[in-house]
Amino acid sequence: MLKKLFSKSKEEKHSMEVAQSLLTNECLPSHIAIIMDGNGRWAKKRAMPRIAGHHEGMQTVRRIARIADDLGIQVLTLYAFSTENWKRPKSEVEYLMSLPQMFLNSFMPELMERDIRIEMIGDMEGLPSNTKKALNQAMEMTKNNNGLILNFAMNYGSRAEIVAAMKAIMMEVSNGKLTMDDVDENMINQYLMTSSLPEPDLLIRTSGEVRLSNFMLWQLAYTEFWFTDVLWPDFDQKTFMQAIQAYQQRNRRYGGLKGESSS
Ligand code: IPE
Ligand code: IPE
Ligand code: MG
Repeated sequence: MLKKLFSKSKEEKHSMEVAQSLLTNECLPSHIAIIMDGNGRWAKKRAMPRIAGHHEGMQTVRRIARIADDLGIQVLTLYAFSTENWKRPKSEVEYLMSLPQMFLNSFMPELMERDIRIEMIGDMEGLPSNTKKALNQAMEMTKNNNGLILNFAMNYGSRAEIVAAMKAIMMEVSNGKLTMDDVDENMINQYLMTSSLPEPDLLIRTSGEVRLSNFMLWQLAYTEFWFTDVLWPDFDQKTFMQAIQAYQQRNRRYGGLKGESSS
């Protein structure tokens, strides 16, 4: 079901046609997670500074969020800044930290029009105050929206997330609120930053790198992976559809047998 008919431009019209053809196949991923990589190489190829690649990457976020929304995807999680990205030069980190404000300011009217909800995972306390403020404001303004959840992983590291969850659980055990027998997979899920989200069905990583770089290690246990050499600023509707179509051809068995027969 297409939620809205945004057919203002030729590109958007085409997007809807492609989306429609995809929707004849029923199994759309509910949650797509993307490791947006290759901004620096995109800029280098053009003899531009790395931050120009990040700026262009932000336009891709907008483009892909629109398409995900048009398709009726429930959750789009975008890895925007890892706990390891602080190792980069100060000027690059500062630019990356200014992007949420830039992005959210200019995209807010459309986010509201499209009923998109902004969420984030990651250690918010470690972010500069302006970045934190922009994200908090956007989450607050969009909290009653019921469409696509656009979830930014910002200052996110999966190992740090797991450590925090373990500490919180151990605290409850030492308080006597939980016993060791209460700890199971469901409980650990509840203590992760993704507790309110379905697990990703499809993980995409751009730029030819084939690794997770500390992204959602627990949550991706049964996710389908799709890698492309396309650099994130060049990632477009066609590539996105290729990923979704590849996903639709996968046979997810979860350790069972083909066809998911239970008898
Ligand atoms: C992805 O692009 C953006 C972030 C990791 C913040 P990169 O900046 O990693 O680009 P490459 O990998 O250097 O090309
Ligand atoms: C992963 O990309 C983090 C994000 C996309 C935010 P990196 O470019 O930081 O990953 P590595 O260093 O190549 O593993
Ligand atoms: Mg990279």
